[in-house]
Amino acid sequence: MSAPRGEFSSKLGFLMAAAGSAVGLGNIWGFPTQVAGNGGAAFLVVYLLMAFFLAYPALMAELIIGRHTKTNSVKALQAIASSNISKKVGFATGFVGMLTACAILSFYAILAGWMAAHATSSATGLVGMSASSEWFASQSSARSLVFTVIFMSLTIAIICGGVKQGIEKWCSRLMPALIMILIALIVYVLTLEGATDGVRAYLVPDFSRVTDPNLIVGAMGQAFFSLSLGVGTMLIYGSYISERDDLVSLGRSVTLIDIGIAVVAGLLVIPAMYAAQHNGVQIYDADGYLIESAGLIFTVLPALFDTMGGGGMFVSLVFFIFMSVAALTSTISVLEVPVAYAVESHDMPRTRATILIGGAITLASAIIIFNFDTLFGIVITVTTQYSEPLVGLMMCVYAGWVLQRNSLLQELKKSNENAEHGLFWKIWPGYVRVICPAAILIVFLQKFFS
Ligand code: TRP
Repeated sequence: MSAPRGEFSSKLGFLMAAAGSAVGLGNIWGFPTQVAGNGGAAFLVVYLLMAFFLAYPALMAELIIGRHTKTNSVKALQAIASSNISKKVGFATGFVGMLTACAILSFYAILAGWMAAHATSSATGLVGMSASSEWFASQSSARSLVFTVIFMSLTIAIICGGVKQGIEKWCSRLMPALIMILIALIVYVLTLEGATDGVRAYLVPDFSRVTDPNLIVGAMGQAFFSLSLGVGTMLIYGSYISERDDLVSLGRSVTLIDIGIAVVAGLLVIPAMYAAQHNGVQIYDADGYLIESAGLIFTVLPALFDTMGGGGMFVSLVFFIFMSVAALTSTISVLEVPVAYAVESHDMPRTRATILIGGAITLASAIIIFNFDTLFGIVITVTTQYSEPLVGLMMCVYAGWVLQRNSLLQELKKSNENAEHGLFWKIWPGYVRVICPAAILIVFLQKFFS
């Protein structure tokens, strides 16, 4: 017989864990980068629409299915199905979601490792070890491998601790620290000369871009990735919510925190780019485009820190610790997906399951590192632009069509007697049944036909 299931000890515990999962490199790096490359606030507006109207309902589908079935994400869809075929499709969807989680972790751990490497570079630089500092900041397969292994080891150590002693405990410590560092960094960056140009670029939309299909698909993918949807992470976290706690208000809070932090992180990263430009750092590439993605974080920002003298090294340290913490509370939530499956469905002891699966994913990361040019981009595209929206779509279909309306209501009523009179109940069930899957499909298909 396996051990009893874990459960978050309070609403706050769940909020810290779920916000910890949602807030990650996607918010602080992916989002500002996409804004910078896609017409500033035009992207922001489309992103907000996608997040509130597609991702939030899909998040609720995962949370409700999770708490209703109280099982891992691979078994959950199967558990609510009654016909043979819907059971099979449910299992397959859950399984694809779990494989997607493993693939996401294999590239995310590499990115997270880079953040930890840059933090180490700043720390060694501060104490005068300039040769090591340089190695930690230089791009090499050896460095990537070392820090991926370190990062995965931390993730594995926390997940071995289980839901309360691992996930909840660490997220409750790390998330408040994260928010405080973010605010401190923003206040500091906004005092730099040139920063206000960045604020303007961020908040003034170029609306000619709003109908660009790539922008719309990008915004949808970003919203799903940012809320950790379409792999079973939120489903499994939902399954650990106590029946006393109100799902509707918790889901709303997680969405608001996640979107809020992405929007606020834009106020850090984009003004920092313009401050860098003010200090003579190149922020446009040869074709006249703003430098984005890796170049932004690992070239433009470090160049900005360099122009700030001795204090710059310290700011750099704080910034990269901040990025590493944001990444860590996300990687643990991804690893929990396959681990929960192995523990519950294959009766594996938690520690053994975590080490085996975490080890296998680290190996996958190593393969990506040594075949970087061929594999890295493909793994990201397949998982975030194809798998996640499609699995998310299936979650909506199962919540809307397979889970009985009555079971849905009973689930919501466990923590809120008046659930049926609330606005959520009036809108969401029909919405998640028809509009959400259709909209995801349309956004998805127009990518192929445009
Ligand atoms: N949401 C996190 C971010 O924004 C990443 C993440 C954590 C994730 N768990 C996930 C993405 C599950 C997709 C699926 O960085």
